[in-house]
Amino acid sequence: MANTYDLSGRTVLVTGGAQGLGRAIAEQALASGATVCIADLRNSAEVGKEIGVYGVDLDVADPAAVEAGVAAALEHLGRIDVLVNNAGISGVGDPKPFLGTSLEEWNAVLGVNLTGPWLMARAVSPGMLERQDGVIVNVASVGGVLALRGRGPYCVTKAGLIQMTKVLAAEYAGQGIRVNAIGPGWMDTPFIRWRLEDPELAAPMLAKIPLGRVCTPDEIAEMVLFLASPGAAYLNGMNLLADGAMSTTI
Ligand SMILES: NC(=O)c1ccc[n+]([C@@H]2O[C@H](COP(=O)([O-])OP(=O)(O)OC[C@H]3O[C@@H](n4cnc5c(N)ncnc54)[C@H](O)[C@@H]3O)[C@@H](O)[C@H]2O)c1
Repeated sequence: MANTYDLSGRTVLVTGGAQGLGRAIAEQALASGATVCIADLRNSAEVGKEIGVYGVDLDVADPAAVEAGVAAALEHLGRIDVLVNNAGISGVGDPKPFLGTSLEEWNAVLGVNLTGPWLMARAVSPGMLERQDGVIVNVASVGGVLALRGRGPYCVTKAGLIQMTKVLAAEYAGQGIRVNAIGPGWMDTPFIRWRLEDPELAAPMLAKIPLGRVCTPDEIAEMVLFLASPGAAYLNGMNLLADGAMSTTI
């Protein structure tokens, strides 16, 4: 799907780009004129071929895999102008009380949702600093500002990612790197599709959204592209909460 932003000549790396929001971001970045690489746990090359972008498999929570994956992306792209930290997991298994979380699950969610974006930012920032030019967009969540019952570790990590966004933005302001987050509300991707497909689970979710519907990945991708574009030059360190007004009311 085309969008309103021009990223001609820019290079974009999107984590978790093999499906859902990441794939939509990759497709829109491509349509905006960018050269794009997706990085996902698996199937990156296959999906990349399908949509016309480069794909590299990596686990964002694994430091060695991030180093190797970013090196492979750099070889293909030449440089990385825009990093989209989109890979994320809601948890491991069914929702559960926060303190009923196993240490394994806690570490897994922290690894993907928080350590991952930090490792990725650490790997791409030297080139950005050298050129004094770069944009990082972190995909947070409405769960970073609201407590979603049953998904405690997810909410804690997304809140941490919003704070990481501010820390990086403040530290790199004036060095050509802008860092923002986007906080989608519920979005129609494989992440929550199983809930949307069950009317008994979907109805109470939809009732919480003043706009009366979940968002589409394309709507959020459009906003990510805006954050990556020169039009957002004065936006830095913010979380663009795109939740259909869910967080405005109870
Ligand atoms: N769908 C929603 O309702 C919703 C709402 C708010 C925020 N988000 C956020 O949006 C982002 C994208 O989610 P989505 O809805 O497209 O989910 P999704 O599950 O459809 O896609 C996530 C992608 O990330 C990849 N991934 C997971 N762990 C990874 C790892 N360790 N390394 C590399 N890639 C990994 C998966 O393989 C998958 O392709 C996530 O950060 C999620 O938290 C989603």
